[in-house]
Amino acid sequence: MTSNLEAQLLALQQEGEAAIAAATSLERLEELRVNYLGKKGQLGALLRSMGQMSAEERPKIGAIANTVKEALQNHLDQQRTALEAAQIQAQLEAETIDVTMPGIYRPQGRIHPLNGIIDRALDIFVGMGYTVAQGPEMETDYYNFESLNTPPDHPARDMQDTFYLPDGNLLRTHTSSVQIRYMEKEEPPIRIVAPGRVYRRDDVDATHSAVFHQIELLAIDEGLTFTDLKGTVKIFLQAMFGDLPIRFRASYFPFTEPSAEVDLQWNGRWLEVMGCGMVDPNVLKAVGYDPEIYTGFAAGFGVERFAMVLHQIDDIRRLYNSDLRFLQQF
Ligand code: DAH
Repeated sequence: MTSNLEAQLLALQQEGEAAIAAATSLERLEELRVNYLGKKGQLGALLRSMGQMSAEERPKIGAIANTVKEALQNHLDQQRTALEAAQIQAQLEAETIDVTMPGIYRPQGRIHPLNGIIDRALDIFVGMGYTVAQGPEMETDYYNFESLNTPPDHPARDMQDTFYLPDGNLLRTHTSSVQIRYMEKEEPPIRIVAPGRVYRRDDVDATHSAVFHQIELLAIDEGLTFTDLKGTVKIFLQAMFGDLPIRFRASYFPFTEPSAEVDLQWNGRWLEVMGCGMVDPNVLKAVGYDPEIYTGFAAGFGVERFAMVLHQIDDIRRLYNSDLRFLQQF
């Protein structure tokens, strides 16, 4: 009985060691561990038959069973270490990168010159504490004209030939509409800069496009004066163009009073670069602000114009026809 059990234990050890040595995966190894040493494993099953043994036999068989268990456990541990090392090695080999292989050429993308100007301008204003605002490109007559002190019969409507939509709405002719939409929602103090597309029924030529971009500026607060407007515009133009002479020339816009156009001396010529002025009291009243308490200034300029001057582009259409030979220069 005893020697029989002893022989069975030693046979189990041999068989187990061979199976462990033959295991090629960690999953298989775990299966073997459960099979031999697990709660319902073979070693346990043999030991349960010890119950029938005499008191002298029991310690002897117990000792043998322990060495079998230890031996199997050792083999399992060693095989696991070996398999894990092999796995890492295989992974290293599979994931090796041949750094001498020729690469795949991917041409680098660029920022479009118009977006470049917009990014720079917004950066400058954000640096002065302005928030970026936006509004819809399809507008109502109210936001594009009426609220901006431009009633239906106002001659200034001729300054901007408008695309009307069948439903009576229109494509905004300027970003000034964003001023009203923003002021309706917010209370002073206000400092916003609003970039966006605008639309005009212009015949397309080297300097005109039916779709172009503007950036609008609006500041409303207690005690803002024309001096604040001049200083802001000056800092902005210096940051964009460098320290060149600028001048403010009296002009007219329905939504500002007084109004001015700003010229910049560029290559010996005065170039008109933006419109601006003190926000007309009628505009403040349209959004429910008290013009006795609040004043403000506004300005607007064309992004294409800036891009053409800064990059010496002779034809506005180059900015839209996606010719890579042109765009790659920027
Ligand atoms: N909206 C004007 C235009 O498109 C530009 C402009 C002029 C905007 C004066 C302003 C301003 O905010 O104060 O021609």
